[in-house]
Amino acid sequence: MPPKRPRPSRIFLLTSNRHKLEEANAILKPYNLKLIQKPAKGIEIQSDSVEEVARVCAQNAYRVLRVPLIVEDSGLFVQALRGFPGVYSAAIYTQVGCEGILRLLAQERQRSARFVCALAYADRNGVRVFRGVVHGRISPRVYRGAGFGYDPIFIPMGYSKPFSALPDVKAKLSHRARAFESFGRFMANKAKTKNKPKKKKTR
Ligand code: IMP
Repeated sequence: MPPKRPRPSRIFLLTSNRHKLEEANAILKPYNLKLIQKPAKGIEIQSDSVEEVARVCAQNAYRVLRVPLIVEDSGLFVQALRGFPGVYSAAIYTQVGCEGILRLLAQERQRSARFVCALAYADRNGVRVFRGVVHGRISPRVYRGAGFGYDPIFIPMGYSKPFSALPDVKAKLSHRARAFESFGRFMANKAKTKNKPKKKKTR
């Protein structure tokens, strides 16, 4: 019989977005980590940096919950709009959707954009932030398909279709995939160090 794999370590992910949860869990599975969704109403702070939003929210949430947890903040930064919608991505998406971004870029030939993800992990040792970025451009039209948010208009660099048409590509190279990969590696190293047998002191 193959050896039994230990039960995955469980960490709370504070989010109301199930897509984020599913994408992150797919990345963390090989690291034997499992995220448990915890609704996160009203924990957001105002800041123009996704890293700061994630860090402060994780700090505040840990003070209350006292269990290992993650807050992830992400956004779409469009170069011709000087980084807009950025930290306002969620609110702008609710108000004007992908079509609104296309309207803002209607006469624009410079369509470069990037997605940024900041993942803040809090435990009794404090908070650590992991960042992931994917560069690309805004498509000329909306391509409905898989994913969520701005996936129907974000074409990753090196491809000709948006994330909504390329779920397997998104799973490997998205901003979220990159941030959670770094986190997974960090946790694996931490576990290795913890389990390493201590050298006996020689006199
Ligand atoms: P927040 O991180 O909950 O503040 O939300 C960020 C917003 O950015 C989401 O509501 C989406 O509109 C957008 N966003 C973040 N990540 C993605 C992604 O992977 N695909 C598409 N849109 C995203």
